[in-house]
Amino acid sequence: MPFVVIPHENPEIHPELVEGRVSASPWETLVGPRHLPMNLLLTGAAGFVGWKTARLLLEAGHEVVGIDNLNDYYDPRLKLWRLRDLGIAEPPTVTGGWAGAGNLRFTRLDIEDRDAVDGLFAANRFDAVINLAARAGVRASIEDPYVYFRTNVDGTVHLLEAMRRHGVGKFVLPSSSSLYAGQAMPFREDLPVNAPISPYAASKKAAETAAYTWHHLYGIDVTILRYFTVYGPAGRPDMSPLRFLKWIDAGEPIQLYGDGSQRRDFTYIDDIAEGTVKALRPVGYEIINLGGGREPVAIKDMIRAFEDHLGKKAVIDFLPFNKADMKETRADAAKARDLLGWHARVGAGEGFRRTAEWYREHADVFRI
Ligand SMILES: NC(=O)c1ccc[n+]([C@@H]2O[C@H](COP(=O)([O-])OP(=O)(O)OC[C@H]3O[C@@H](n4cnc5c(N)ncnc54)[C@H](O)[C@@H]3O)[C@@H](O)[C@H]2O)c1
Repeated sequence: MPFVVIPHENPEIHPELVEGRVSASPWETLVGPRHLPMNLLLTGAAGFVGWKTARLLLEAGHEVVGIDNLNDYYDPRLKLWRLRDLGIAEPPTVTGGWAGAGNLRFTRLDIEDRDAVDGLFAANRFDAVINLAARAGVRASIEDPYVYFRTNVDGTVHLLEAMRRHGVGKFVLPSSSSLYAGQAMPFREDLPVNAPISPYAASKKAAETAAYTWHHLYGIDVTILRYFTVYGPAGRPDMSPLRFLKWIDAGEPIQLYGDGSQRRDFTYIDDIAEGTVKALRPVGYEIINLGGGREPVAIKDMIRAFEDHLGKKAVIDFLPFNKADMKETRADAAKARDLLGWHARVGAGEGFRRTAEWYREHADVFRI
């Protein structure tokens, strides 16, 4: 691995406040030239990004405890498909049950359940936590803001507190480009993002700030990753790429908010998973964009690409632009390159082709 090892030195650490065992693993054993297998907690393991990140971690030889509550925000059959792809053919049907495959152990657990989270840390020795469990989705957060704050904020605090109590020193937390609404592009990490325009964005900002507090008080090393529109095979069926593929394929009208000129810095799932694993390196506390960093693509151009790949014409129902949506996103990805040695490799043309191909092969099975 190409990382330069930076020992973690934080004058703000208050070791007397850390109860229990402090992680014995020196940071340089986590990532870097003397790379050793880690024991990792990966939350949201059945989710889109969790699934691909788990695969990369397992391929690198790490031990992974994956948790997910398998909620029905979108069709859980897709989550079960992802778990099967990871070798978990029969995930536990009840909360607290376990299933395993190779170096992956999976349990059905809700991060909103503080005692269950603490119990998990008491029973396992983790070197680091990657918290990919979340309620994601801008529009749904307007319908039910409470669950967004319970999972994204309370759930994150439960994990941070368990890390403090059980001496786990590294936290990777995905956040979102939606925090940059209203800012000048390209979006840089040092822009002030104090005016989130959806409950979802507000919950992600709250989680970022909570992670800072636990870093400041207890020296937990935190990497916040602001993802930019992640897409790809087995992607989220509530997001435009998979939704539009489904509608075009079925000959149903696409429900398009706005005129399709809104542009996104689409970032392919494999790139996001790679950046998430690289984010395990020690940084102190850093916020880092993971975005394609190239020309953003208009939604109407994505629709055209899918029409070509499926050989079908889209029918479009134009709906009013949603106030909680952004007109355009574009990442400044220089910090990810400098700190993590990361850049997006897969361009939108190739990524859309792979996504459409996956959809063609799996649409019948999942009817997502
Ligand atoms: N996909 C994107 O474009 C995108 C963009 C920006 C940020 N993100 C962030 O990336 C992270 C992963 O998102 P994703 O796209 O993989 O979403 P996802 O919904 O596919 O995955 C999240 C997983 O977490 C699980 N989960 C939700 N609440 C839980 C809880 N209380 N306890 C345990 N498990 C729970 C869900 O069942 C799901 O499997 C999220 O933090 C999201 O906000 C994603």
